[in-house]
Amino acid sequence: MIWLRKSFRRNNGVCSARWLVLGLALVLAAGAALGWAIPAQAQGPTDNEACLRCHSNPNLSMTLRSGEPLSLFVDPKVYHDTIHGTLNVQCVQCHTDIQGYPHPSANYLDRRDVTLQNYKTCESCHPDNYRKTLDSMHQVALAGGNRNAAVCTDCHTAHAVTDPATPRTRIPQTCAQCHSTISDAYVKSVHGKALFDDANPDVPTCIDCHGVHEIDNPTTTAFRLKSPEICARCHTDKAIMAKYAISTKVLDTYIADFHGTTVELFAKQHPDQATNKPVCYDCHGVHDIKSTKDPTSTVSTQENLLKTCRKCHPDATTESFTAAWMSHYEASPDKYPLVYYVNLFYWILIPLTIGALLIFIASDVLRRVRRRLAKQS
Ligand code: HEC
Ligand code: HEC
Ligand code: HEC
Ligand code: HEC
Ligand code: HEC
Ligand code: HEC
Ligand code: HEC
Ligand code: HEC
Ligand code: HEC
Repeated sequence: MIWLRKSFRRNNGVCSARWLVLGLALVLAAGAALGWAIPAQAQGPTDNEACLRCHSNPNLSMTLRSGEPLSLFVDPKVYHDTIHGTLNVQCVQCHTDIQGYPHPSANYLDRRDVTLQNYKTCESCHPDNYRKTLDSMHQVALAGGNRNAAVCTDCHTAHAVTDPATPRTRIPQTCAQCHSTISDAYVKSVHGKALFDDANPDVPTCIDCHGVHEIDNPTTTAFRLKSPEICARCHTDKAIMAKYAISTKVLDTYIADFHGTTVELFAKQHPDQATNKPVCYDCHGVHDIKSTKDPTSTVSTQENLLKTCRKCHPDATTESFTAAWMSHYEASPDKYPLVYYVNLFYWILIPLTIGALLIFIASDVLRRVRRRLAKQS
């Protein structure tokens, strides 16, 4: 102000129009900033603090038609730390039918009904994820009358939404709420153990094989026939598999093998028909896949392996049955030496025979030509 007054005096009492304009602009800018700030904080009867005045009371509850009590407590600390709280999402942006108290009367049968009547509110800001879930097995089950099929808030909660994939172990834990038997098997599998013990980022969680918002029916023939592709996504990736010294030839050898060839051909000709040929999980299991070094693996010992083959070859009684099959290996001096040397023998014998024959023919032709030339001269 002193500086302004000085400049005022310096200008002979004439406050220059420049200063006036600047001052006015400053006032306007400050006013505008304040004006914008007010609606952003949404003061009034519907801002979060207004709702939380009552709903931060841990004892607030109501009784549902079933007689069940419903706690109406929303922990402000938990909500403020969620992604929505951090971004200042308002209670009323989800609870669009409520504008202060009293509320429109709610009509809930039971606790599940509270969720089923409210979860669709997520659609307004997450339309893509919402649309995907419409085709999911969970919505199919829900439409079929199974009220326990998962909707948004079963997996994400309503007021405690945080990153659902960090740490990665959260994913199977989310599904485990309702699929605990499968989850227990998965946790002990070679994939699950690596995830839980070593935070391994390369192994599949439930959603790498099933998807998340658009979960397909895994019990159909189409899913079964395409399932080798799920495994192959990682098991043919050289960069990933090199870390674990696991062969990447498992798909090639599977397809080259009689079993795989027939499934491939079958899938092309009859995409919807069942096949009795094995896919990866018939031999390895699905949620309980073990390392081939684990003695409890379905493919590790000759005895276990025979049991696995017998699911479809009930007549297979001797271990020579499994020994006759090369599994994923190409014959080598270490693995299947007999097959390898027989192959090698043919690799050498056939070119040798043909070579000898060609030399014989060539020398015969040469001999005849020479004889004819000798006759002419
Ligand atoms: C004066 C206290 C009070 C205030 C403020 C208040 N509520 Fe409630 N709320 C209640 C009570 C009591 C109930 C129990 C049912 C009833 O009385 O309508 C309830 C029930 C609810 C329910 C469950 C029933 C339903 O309608 O689905 C929701 C959701 C809810 N309030 C959200 C809000 C939101 C959002 C706000 C802020 C806009 C808010 N409340 C402000 C007291 C309050
Ligand atoms: C991201 C959307 C969303 C926001 C934000 C949200 N709610 Fe909810 N709220 C829901 C859904 C969905 C339900 C249904 C219950 C469920 O699925 O668990 C619900 C349920 C409720 C209930 C019934 C009791 C219960 O927990 O099931 C109350 C009370 C409630 N909300 C109050 C609030 C208040 C107060 C705020 C703001 C601090 C708020 N909600 C913010 C989505 C939201
Ligand atoms: C069966 C459990 C489940 C259901 C049901 C579900 N989600 Fe998810 N959601 C997840 C998991 C797990 C992730 C993490 C996915 C990842 O990291 O690849 C996720 C990720 C998200 C994300 C963040 C990443 C992204 O894709 O944008 C949003 C947003 C989201 N879900 C919203 C929803 C909404 C909205 C619904 C309901 C229409 C819903 N979810 C239903 C489990 C579920
Ligand atoms: C008013 C808009 C709005 C509504 C309604 C809303 N969300 Fe969100 N949500 C956001 C915004 C904004 C983000 C952050 C950007 C993003 O990931 O899309 C977000 C992020 C998320 C994430 C990612 C969390 C993370 O840390 O990666 C999940 C999961 C999610 N929301 C679930 C839900 C669920 C479940 C509902 C319904 C109960 C819901 N949202 C309703 C605005 C909303
Ligand atoms: C709130 C409980 C709940 C949660 C959480 C849940 N599910 Fe489900 N899920 C169900 C119900 C119920 C069904 C329908 C079962 C039926 O029809 O036999 C189902 C069906 C499925 C199916 C189809 C099964 C079949 O036989 O057709 C798959 C696959 C599936 N869920 C995977 C998942 C995955 C992956 C997750 C975690 C990202 C998950 N679910 C989380 C309840 C849940
Ligand atoms: C490596 C891939 C893979 C992983 C990881 C995986 N699944 Fe599966 N899942 C499958 C395949 C393949 C089938 C079909 C198996 C069959 O029909 O016997 C299946 C079947 C299912 C089914 C329906 C059949 C049944 O047994 O009820 C459900 C539900 C399911 N999975 C849930 C889960 C859950 C939850 C997780 C995580 C804890 C998970 N899956 C992890 C590949 C996987
Ligand atoms: C998202 C990538 C991914 C998918 C999908 C996947 N795997 Fe794996 N799998 C791995 C990784 C990584 C390991 C090594 C884990 C370790 O050793 O810590 C592994 C290990 C294995 C092993 C043990 C190998 C050994 O050491 O003896 C078998 C068997 C296996 N997987 C079979 C399957 C089958 C069958 C499927 C399909 C149903 C499948 N995997 C799907 C990444 C994947
Ligand atoms: C007919 C049964 C059968 C089928 C089908 C089958 N496997 Fe195998 N797999 C085996 C046997 C047996 C072994 C053990 C070989 C050994 O250790 O001598 C094995 C070993 C493996 C290994 C460990 C390789 C290593 O380097 O340690 C992986 C990974 C694997 N299989 C993945 C797959 C995948 C992916 C598919 C489908 C594309 C598949 N398997 C189909 C029987 C089968
Ligand atoms: C899911 C069922 C299934 C499993 C498990 C299975 N097979 Fe087969 N296998 C078949 C079918 C079906 C055929 C016939 C293929 C055809 O007609 O092209 C076959 C064909 C064969 C053949 C070709 C000779 C013949 O009998 O036609 C051999 C050898 C064989 N299997 C070995 C094995 C071995 C070894 C195992 C265990 C590691 C095994 N199979 C596991 C279904 C299975």
